[in-house]
Amino acid sequence: MQIKRVGIVGAGTMGNGIAQVFAQSGFEVRLCDQVPAAIERARGSIEKSLAKFVEKGKLTAPDRDAALGRLSTGSDLDTLADVDYVVEAIAEAVDAKTAVFTRLDAITQPHVILSSNTSSISITVLGAATSRPDRVLGMHFMNPVPLMTLVELIRGQATSPESMTIATALCTTLGKTPVEAADYPGFIANRILMPMINEAVYAVMEGVGTPEAIDTVMKLGMNHPMGPLTLADFIGLDVCLAILNVLHDGLGDPKYRPCPLLRRMVAAGHLGRKSGRGFYGY
Ligand SMILES: NC(=O)c1ccc[n+]([C@@H]2O[C@H](COP(=O)([O-])OP(=O)(O)OC[C@H]3O[C@@H](n4cnc5c(N)ncnc54)[C@H](O)[C@@H]3O)[C@@H](O)[C@H]2O)c1
Repeated sequence: MQIKRVGIVGAGTMGNGIAQVFAQSGFEVRLCDQVPAAIERARGSIEKSLAKFVEKGKLTAPDRDAALGRLSTGSDLDTLADVDYVVEAIAEAVDAKTAVFTRLDAITQPHVILSSNTSSISITVLGAATSRPDRVLGMHFMNPVPLMTLVELIRGQATSPESMTIATALCTTLGKTPVEAADYPGFIANRILMPMINEAVYAVMEGVGTPEAIDTVMKLGMNHPMGPLTLADFIGLDVCLAILNVLHDGLGDPKYRPCPLLRRMVAAGHLGRKSGRGFYGY
């Protein structure tokens, strides 16, 4: 079955980037979010990002206009009734995600693949909330989606090889490189990244170094393009905390225990770049 129309649920940091790459690659995109202001922000981000591509000569103005013409937005999930593929990118919370998967299962045609951009939550659990666990998989894009080429593809316990083949081909069409990971908490990317970010937060809490010092050590000493605390602000501290909780609960090892400073910052609403305040001010 040819995939022409793609539904994206959640128009936050990730959803808007995912919608943009699908629209740029010729797909008709329906982007849904329950918060109208999020949809407005997403449109603004997509327009700004496409304008940058045009400025840099990587996209023509007519192609930008065509991509924008393929994008429609709304708050009603029912508009996804006739899509051929879905990417869910709502908050990193298992109850919210299972509720959306159950709803998507009822709305969309039975053959449609329902994928999740989750950073850490079990794909098998999301699949079990539907009547089509063989057509549920993880499609974990990286932030910022228009620039980062990796997509981690996660095979749940019941995901069929056919679904993985379709998702792999889709990644290639989007100009992305897929890497397959098994369905364990945090998969590959966040199993390795989040303990490093968490350790950097512990280092701040214990006064080992300032955020600037810690980020500079990792940039100049380890050749990372961005320090772990700058990256945490970029990802969203709430998202980092949610992922660490999944790692801690799912793997049971105290080494994944979220740093109390991270918990405190999230409780205070200091979520990083998206809230204007995190380890740095924005
Ligand atoms: N932020 C990152 O760097 C990053 C990277 C890779 C993967 N992810 C994953 O992507 C997903 C989204 O993360 P984000 O950073 O974009 O979050 P975000 O908080 O920026 O955006 C989430 C959006 O989902 C919307 N939403 C919540 N519940 C909804 C529902 N039931 N129906 C429709 N919309 C709903 C919210 O209104 C919000 O606009 C999470 O699973 C996260 O773990 C995040």
